Amino acid sequence: MTEASPGPATAGRPAARPRSAGFARRNAGLLWTLGTAALFAGMWGFVRHSAGLGLAGLTRDLSGESPFYDPGAPAITAIMFAHMAAGAGLTLLAPVQLIGPLRRARPRLHRGLGSTMIALGLATGAGGVVYALGRGTTGGPFMDLSSTVYGLLILLAAVETFRHGRARRWPAHRRWGLRLSVLAIASWLYRMHYVIWDLIADGAGTTPDMTGPFDRFQAWGFYLTYLALLEIWLQRERRRARAPGASRGPRPTRTGAEAARPGA
Ligand code: HEM
Repeated sequence: MTEASPGPATAGRPAARPRSAGFARRNAGLLWTLGTAALFAGMWGFVRHSAGLGLAGLTRDLSGESPFYDPGAPAITAIMFAHMAAGAGLTLLAPVQLIGPLRRARPRLHRGLGSTMIALGLATGAGGVVYALGRGTTGGPFMDLSSTVYGLLILLAAVETFRHGRARRWPAHRRWGLRLSVLAIASWLYRMHYVIWDLIADGAGTTPDMTGPFDRFQAWGFYLTYLALLEIWLQRERRRARAPGASRGPRPTRTGAEAARPGA
């Protein structure tokens, strides 16, 4: 009898997983490593640019070199360049925290990096909001608003990930952690959309003051699109977990087992 063929012995039990799911589970470590390596390779240029510019603006005078550097407004300039440096760290950590096998094998490392990511998320989000509201963005009020909402969502996701983690509410902690990671990576995706759009449409609908139709779509679309896709995926996951015959609750992990232990 093949793996998937139904028979009396399997009656009433969930159907056997397809071979591809078995392959994915056996090679989860390898698949995560390859996926994360590809993501890092893609994001590296942006992370280096952001960290380099952030540190440069915090340590030397960039008058005339960067439009974000204003020696007449040292506080908001420092906040903006600290935002770039913190954002670089946040972007790097986002995929690391998603690596399931690493999280299960090294829960302490996951907690340490998670706390760092929360702090970087708060600094990046708050810095971006202060700059958007205090100085205004290149794209004007439309982009000020979309940037502010983006920053507030990062702050909310950072606080909620932390709060649910502290209370050991793992399913909610995981959902908010995923939202935080998607929002963090969206900043890189924003730049990628422009690169791809330049290649396929020669930058049509974009203007230097970022008020073209494509800029307007980008202002909201770069994070709301991915957040919406994540919500659809989470909904489907919840529906599948509620389906008759589905195994109840999350797969046991070291952290999950710790939480279930009385007195833990
Ligand atoms: C997630 C990681 C983030 C990184 C790595 C990052 C990095 C940067 C960098 C390097 C710049 C300078 C422009 C450039 O050289 O591209 C910038 C600008 C800016 N960032 Fe972020 N950022 C991040 C997240 C955020 C968030 C959450 C907000 C939310 C408010 C935000 C708001 C802004 C604003 C308003 C500007 C100025 C845009 C303009 O006026 O043209 N950023 N960011």
